Amino acid sequence: MNVLLIGSGGREHAFAWKISQSKLVDKFYIAPGNPGTEQHGTNVKLNILNFDEVATFVKEHQVSMIVVGPEEPLVRGIYDYFKNHSELKFVKVIGPSKAGAQLEGSKDFAKQFMMRHQIPTATYQTFTKDTLYKGFQFLDTLKPPYVLKADGLAAGKGVLILNNVDEAKRELAVMLSEAKFGDAGNKVVIEEFMKGVECSVFVLTDGKNYKILPTAKDYKRVGEGDTGLNTGGMGAVSPVPFADDVFLKKVEERIIKPTISGLEKEQIVYKGFIYVGLMNVNGDPKVVEYNCRMGDPETQVVLPRIKSDLIELFETLETQTLDTKSIEIDPHACVTVVMVSGGYPGNYQKNKVIHGLDEVKESIVFHAGTRREDNRLLTAGGRVCCITSLGDDMHEALKKSYQNIQHIYFDDFYYRRDIGFDLR
Ligand code: AMP
Ligand code: GLY
Repeated sequence: MNVLLIGSGGREHAFAWKISQSKLVDKFYIAPGNPGTEQHGTNVKLNILNFDEVATFVKEHQVSMIVVGPEEPLVRGIYDYFKNHSELKFVKVIGPSKAGAQLEGSKDFAKQFMMRHQIPTATYQTFTKDTLYKGFQFLDTLKPPYVLKADGLAAGKGVLILNNVDEAKRELAVMLSEAKFGDAGNKVVIEEFMKGVECSVFVLTDGKNYKILPTAKDYKRVGEGDTGLNTGGMGAVSPVPFADDVFLKKVEERIIKPTISGLEKEQIVYKGFIYVGLMNVNGDPKVVEYNCRMGDPETQVVLPRIKSDLIELFETLETQTLDTKSIEIDPHACVTVVMVSGGYPGNYQKNKVIHGLDEVKESIVFHAGTRREDNRLLTAGGRVCCITSLGDDMHEALKKSYQNIQHIYFDDFYYRRDIGFDLR
């Protein structure tokens, strides 16, 4: 079968690496891809938000499965577009329907969904411009810190955590009246602050059956010791030691089962990944957020631990027969350390020559923000590449990644030297 993967980051390089190992794949395309994905298939220049353009390619190249990496095409309805297409409705799209993608596309929708299905999460209320003063009153009933979330997609920047009630009120007003996050901030969810340690659980579902994938923890802050600004993720580890069988059983019973059965009851079509961001509050899991896709850089540590053929699993989603397959997990630990451009997540420079990737041994370098020009590899983003290693345990894996980083160089690079510090 011919497969098209959509996206261009480190997550998609990891998907491309894994998908290209499938015995079921004939031709493999990645749109738009990056120099990393090119090692595993053919990159094609497509505007991934222009579904007509994607459809033309799919038709011309007899693609029968589309795997969607990032959230935006999903939230905009790529699944429904193909299902409603007279000629292309049999193309398998790996990802939720537009309605299912609302779990990530609208924080208010996700909270209401959790309330309807008694899924543990922080208590909350949602406000609009017209109910701003009610929002102020609600803030007065809460204890600091205050958590404000723009309802819609805001590229990971829509969550504010503030220590002072006046500051929280000011920010709420800016979000609602001055449209700080554009349309994404037409509604703002205010919720109780949950104290605990975070981890993520990933689920593959056909809308009825599910498989729980390895747990992972990402390191979102730019600075060592989890300080400084939030980023897309500076590294990740899998598995997460504190997410033991007892904790995971609670996650499955209290969160995963009601999520899947809730989608089914509400007739929301979902054939893809659910990323459940969790807070471990004194041993009890609570949902911080849902995403309708895999995480980046978590995918880079989750997929290397899955031994099963991913495409074989994907094939069962259409017919809701995921239960007929088992998923084999590699007991090794996997870690990734992200090398970024100096200045990220603020301003940074691009087009620096990347040296030394050929010297890397026993680690996989997943490309994130790179591009090729005249046979040179250049930086093309904040997060540049992810040095990923397997080991008997997290320490051994980290040692390999950090040793291999010594071979890689580009002007003004930066990486965190303490990935996994809190789990040692
Ligand atoms: P989100 O985009 O909803 O995942 O929020 C981004 C980050 O803000 C999360 O990864 C948490 O670190 C933090 N966060 C969000 N909601 C809460 C909450 N209710 N309590 C504590 N931290 C939170
Ligand atoms: N690493 C966080 C995310 O993918 O949303």
